[in-house]
Formats: sequence, structure tokens, C-alpha cells
Amino acid sequence: MKLRNKAAALLLLALAALLLALLSLRAGRAAPPAPLARPASAPPRRAAPAPARLPGWSALPGAGPSARRRRPPRLRPRAGRRGAVSLKKSARRPGELRSFQAELPPELWIHLAVVACGNRLEETLVMLKSAVLFSHRKMQFHIFTEESLKPEFDKQLRQWPDSYTKKFEHRIYPITFSAGNPQEWKKLFKPCAAQRLFLPVILKDVDSLLYVDTDVLFLRPVDDIWKLLRQFNSTQLAAMAPEHEIPKIGWYSRFARHPFYGSAGVNSGVMLMNLTRIRSAQFKNSMISTGLAWEDMLYPLYQKYKNAITWGDQDLLNIIFYFNPECLYVFPCQWNYRPDHCMYGSNCREAEREGVSVLHGNRGVYHDEKQPTFKALYEAIRDFPFQDNLFQSMYYPLQLKFLETVHTLCGRIPQVFLKQIEKTMKRAYEKHVIIHVGPNQMH
Ligand SMILES: *[C@@H]1O[C@H](CO)[C@@H](O)[C@H](O)[C@H]1NC(C)=O
Ligand SMILES: *[C@@H]1O[C@H](CO)[C@@H](O)[C@H](O)[C@H]1NC(C)=O
Repeated sequence: MKLRNKAAALLLLALAALLLALLSLRAGRAAPPAPLARPASAPPRRAAPAPARLPGWSALPGAGPSARRRRPPRLRPRAGRRGAVSLKKSARRPGELRSFQAELPPELWIHLAVVACGNRLEETLVMLKSAVLFSHRKMQFHIFTEESLKPEFDKQLRQWPDSYTKKFEHRIYPITFSAGNPQEWKKLFKPCAAQRLFLPVILKDVDSLLYVDTDVLFLRPVDDIWKLLRQFNSTQLAAMAPEHEIPKIGWYSRFARHPFYGSAGVNSGVMLMNLTRIRSAQFKNSMISTGLAWEDMLYPLYQKYKNAITWGDQDLLNIIFYFNPECLYVFPCQWNYRPDHCMYGSNCREAEREGVSVLHGNRGVYHDEKQPTFKALYEAIRDFPFQDNLFQSMYYPLQLKFLETVHTLCGRIPQVFLKQIEKTMKRAYEKHVIIHVGPNQMH
């Protein structure tokens, strides 16, 4: 590329850095409060113009399709006023706004399912927030919940700012069980947990699905875990992480009274599924050799093992993949990182190397004092004011909180928890700068 362009790009980078420094000085005072409470009677949210936002770190990738259609991207005027002439100029070329999926057809959306009952409303919303916060691709949320929680989900999701709501659509479903006795399924392990077994049957029009427990947090774009679907070989139709990294001390090898996958079992808190394949596959089990469709297999399996299982539907999944190991893709522990991976010492190599990608605060650790590192992450995402500067309002507070966790084994490896967040923020930032510079000048 030409020298002059390179120089221009460098200059821009320097300008952006300066801008950032300036902004962090005045952030806090400058940022108006996130529009948290919007009265239910207010006009449709698209009509309410969001306040001008800070460029740089605060701008999440994708100033989005709807913003683009209505008017010039709203970040720009402020940048212009600050003297970044070329920023202003390039902002006028809407084609360069590399927003996430202006034209992405629905079949390319990410489908994310969660089953939330009882007092899991806040936790679920924080999980969804983490998904939207870091992801690029448009998402369809499938929320399965009790009748009583439905209005609150609807209400809260609609109160999120535009820049968030345009990245997803959501559907809310009642809890339903299509085979066997619904009351029996509901009692299994936790109320509603068995619902996930029926997702392939209920979501008939969905090709692939990421299911997560409510106590999961995404620390990097959901796009990245979604890509693992492409790595399935021809017989694989679902993906999960091992239940434990050290089989000998894992729960299944010590206590299970039923068959389970591999040497340590698998954890179903984060589960990637190709539903198309699940619906058309024939599954072997101990009772029959010829194979049964997914839906027809569930109830007989449950009947046979109900007195031996402890962890409900996760145990059933382990039994299914014990008899059908060729169907399972096992992804590494960084995609389902639990207290087990650090509370007795760090044992998840991939997370040590690449950082935690998906955090799973099981055993209620977001809500008690047992694992303050997990709690700190939960609270940082929960309390992040939607449109603030990520560094200022999430990363720095998080680092401070981590200082108070060093007395725990998990707290001694903060970089494992922070690596992906750092990377994500850096990418968001670079993308933003590259957008300004324009594709022709940055290659
Ligand atoms: C799921 O499997 C079907 C059938 O093999 C395939 O056509 C489809 O592309 C797969 N979906 C994804 C996202 O890989
Ligand atoms: C796909 O991978 C699984 C797990 O490694 C293996 O058991 C299975 O045989 C593979 N299928 C094919 C068709 O290679």
C-alpha cells in the first residue's frame, strides 16, 4: 500500500488514541444515563432517538441496520466537532459502516435458547446481555419460561437501548413436554430443566441451536462458539464440554450409577446442537439395537434410569451419548468454564492459554460469597450501563473487584478470566478505527 495512505492511517490511529484519552477524562460526566426505564405506554422504541454516543471503545461493533436507514450514524457529529476531519468525512459514506448483519438472512442468525424458571429472571437477562454485548451476528432468542415470568421478560428486553435491541429478536414460549408425563418431567432435577431435551421437537423450524443454562455468561462473541458447528464431522450432532478435566476426581466416575459419556461425562450447561440432524438421526440405546428417533427415545430412557440419575436431564444426555459416542463433538473447557476448573487449582489448559470464553457459574456462585471471581464478573456485566464505555465502566471496575479475590484459588488467575474480554474490547475498538479509515486504505 502507498506510503501516504499508511501515514494517514497512522495519523488517524494517533488521533483516535488522543480522542480516547480525552474521552476517558470526561466520561462519566459526559455519558447520559442509559435509558433504563421506558414507560410501557411510550411510543415504539424505534421512534426514540438515542442520545449521541461516544466513539471509540464505547461504540460496540455495528451501529446497525435500522440506525443506518433512518439517518447518518449517530456517533459521528461529536467526532467531527473534535476536529477529526477525516473521521467526519468518512462517516458520510454509509457503505463503509461495517455493521453486523444489515442484510443477513434469517437462516444465518444465531439461535440461542434458555429455560428460565423460578427466580432466574435477572440471571437470564444478564446472560442475554452478555450475548448481545459482545456479538456481531444477529440473534434469535428462544426463551422458555413460566407464564408468570413472561411479561417481565418482555418488558425488560424492550427497555434495552436501540443499539442492543436491534441485534436480536426474542420469542417467549411456555414450558411444554411432548412425551410422557409433564408433571414428572417438571420434577426432574430442577423445575423446567428437562425442557431442553425437547428443544429439537419444539423448535421444528430451527436448524441449529445454542442452548445455555441461565447461569452462563459470554465473555466473547457468541459468533465464535457458533462457528464450532462447522467443525462437526458427518455423524456429530451436538457438542458439549467434559464435566471434569480430571476424570478420577470428577463426579461421574466416582458416583454415577448409570452409563455416562467418556471418562468424565459431559456438562450440559452449554450445548451446541444441530437440530436438523438430531431430528433425523436414529439413536441406539441399551434396550434396542435398531435405533429410535430422539423424541421417541426420551421417555423410555427416563423410565429406565429415573432411579439411578442424580442430575436429571444432564444424566440422560450422558446416557444417550454413551450409547452414541460418534454423535458428540466434545469442545474444550474454555467454552464451559466452571468453579471446578479453578477452585482446587487451575486445571483447564485451554482457558489458561486462550482465556475463558464462556463462563458457567453453577452452584449459585454468582449469588453467594464462595467464588468471588465468578460473582465479580456477573456483577460487572449486570451493572454495566448499557451504552457506556466498556473500559471505563466494565473493565476497570472488574479489575478492582478482582483485587479483592486473590485469597481464593480462582482469584489468583485473573488473566484467565480477563483475556477474552480484553481481546473483544480490542477488536471492537480496532474495527471501529478501521471503519473510519475505510477499507481501501487499510489493507
Ligand atoms: C446441520 O446439519 C444439516 C444436515 O446435515 C446441514 O445441512 C446443516 O448445514 C447443518 N447446520 C449447520 C449450521 O452446520
Ligand atoms: C466423528 O467424530 C467422532 C468423535 O471423534 C467419532 O467417534 C466418529 O467416528 C466420527 N465420525 C466419522 C464419520 O468420522
